[in-house]
Amino acid sequence: MNLILKIKSNKMKIKKKNKIYQGKSKIIYSTNNSDVLILKFKKDMSRLNGKYIKKFDNKDIINNKFNYYIMNKISSFNIKTHILSLLSDNQVIVKKLKMIPIEFVVRNYAYGSLLKRFLIKERSFINPPILEFFFKNDGLKDPMINEYHCISFNLISENHIKKIKKILYKINNILKDIFYKAELILVDFKLEFGLFNGDLFLGDEFSLDNSRVWDKNSFKKMDKDIFREQLNENVIESYKEVANRIGCLID
Ligand code: C5P
Repeated sequence: MNLILKIKSNKMKIKKKNKIYQGKSKIIYSTNNSDVLILKFKKDMSRLNGKYIKKFDNKDIINNKFNYYIMNKISSFNIKTHILSLLSDNQVIVKKLKMIPIEFVVRNYAYGSLLKRFLIKERSFINPPILEFFFKNDGLKDPMINEYHCISFNLISENHIKKIKKILYKINNILKDIFYKAELILVDFKLEFGLFNGDLFLGDEFSLDNSRVWDKNSFKKMDKDIFREQLNENVIESYKEVANRIGCLID
């Protein structure tokens, strides 16, 4: 039986063991199965690289359900993700991947760090979408890198980078469509990938913490920028509204 079917049918047999990593938005636990991890979403929201942190009730539950919903949509288009099964409101069981230390950003509209690097008008439409790579390294503040750095520094093979580029454009089309049907614009997003037995899988999470989503008509911000920019909106209500609008019902 493959790992997914095994976990689905033996959900109760996965036992949480030790905390192996605590990030800004998730805690990762090992389990009794060395191929499987548990991700526990946190209530924390951080800005200025973790210098300022605030807890929000329900944020852990919304992000877990939203991520699970989006990851399942993506896997329904034959893209492999690390998701195995929901464990609880704020926890999900995933495959243990060997993570690639690169953040992959796709941009459909100009916002965020792009505005600081290029003389481009804020909110302008980018066509074709821009794909950017950032080396995950806190000490170096995640510098932007290109395909040559990725390959020459052995961060990823040439073949995998080719595959990831294809997958990212496919995911962008799938997600743009889902959001557009809900009168929302997918501005940009960040994803991470990893390997399991040499195969590529989408890992980490997709949430409104690592994507930008605006209302299609008013261009109102509905993602973490509400918190980053200290806008006068309820960030959790906004996360909930986006989830509900795309059909991921949160009570
Ligand atoms: O800040 P920047 O404009 O480069 O961010 C692009 C996208 O990547 C945004 O959706 C942001 O939320 C996400 N991002 C992230 N983690 C980072 C940097 C950016 O999720 N470390």
